[in-house]
Amino acid sequence: MIHDRAFSQYIFLETSNENARGGIIINISSGDGELACLNSELQRLLKEVQSESDLESLLRELWEGTCLRGQELAFGPTPAYSVSKAALNVLTRIQAREIEMSQLKLRAVAVCPGDVDTRMCSAGEGDRVLTPAQAAGDVIWAIERPSECPSGGFYREREPIPW
Ligand SMILES: NC(=O)c1ccc[n+]([C@@H]2O[C@H](COP(=O)([O-])OP(=O)(O)OC[C@H]3O[C@@H](n4cnc5c(N)ncnc54)[C@H](OP(=O)(O)O)[C@@H]3O)[C@@H](O)[C@H]2O)c1
Repeated sequence: MIHDRAFSQYIFLETSNENARGGIIINISSGDGELACLNSELQRLLKEVQSESDLESLLRELWEGTCLRGQELAFGPTPAYSVSKAALNVLTRIQAREIEMSQLKLRAVAVCPGDVDTRMCSAGEGDRVLTPAQAAGDVIWAIERPSECPSGGFYREREPIPW
């Protein structure tokens, strides 16, 4: 397993035999990154992104303020977090497309763990909060169920959710 902590990206590779189910890239995203949480112009720009270098350029322009300057980029209490997770979702779709073209035995998916009882949990009183073990169970489901969790999808609690 390869784990990139900064981007919450996990890569599990299964190389032992030719009948193996293959590897999986799991990007730990968030429902806060759904396109519906973003400025409509930013939604349009993200939908147009075709490659990692396009994505990098767009993020640089947003950071430097040469694009959508002075506009609210996302709605809700943590707009920067929403933009970063929306970008991770775009990256997931790019990875899924590249994998499909390469015909590698690999999947790329984004998983929102839901509200999980960790340091960063922002759930309010009365909200349903998962334990880290429950959230990890949903990630293991994604690894073990290629037919229910195909490449290029975004999942929460073992169900597809919209980008
Ligand atoms: N908890 C939730 O309700 C929830 C909901 C949706 C999505 N998520 C996603 O789930 C993932 C895990 O979050 P969590 O709930 O487990 O939060 P957490 O308990 O706060 O853990 C965050 C982890 O990220 C590491 N980290 C933070 N900034 C970093 C940086 N700049 N470079 C490298 N590592 C960094 C922290 O390292 P240190 O331990 O060294 O500080 C820590 O291990 C995140 O991607 C989060 O966005 C969580």
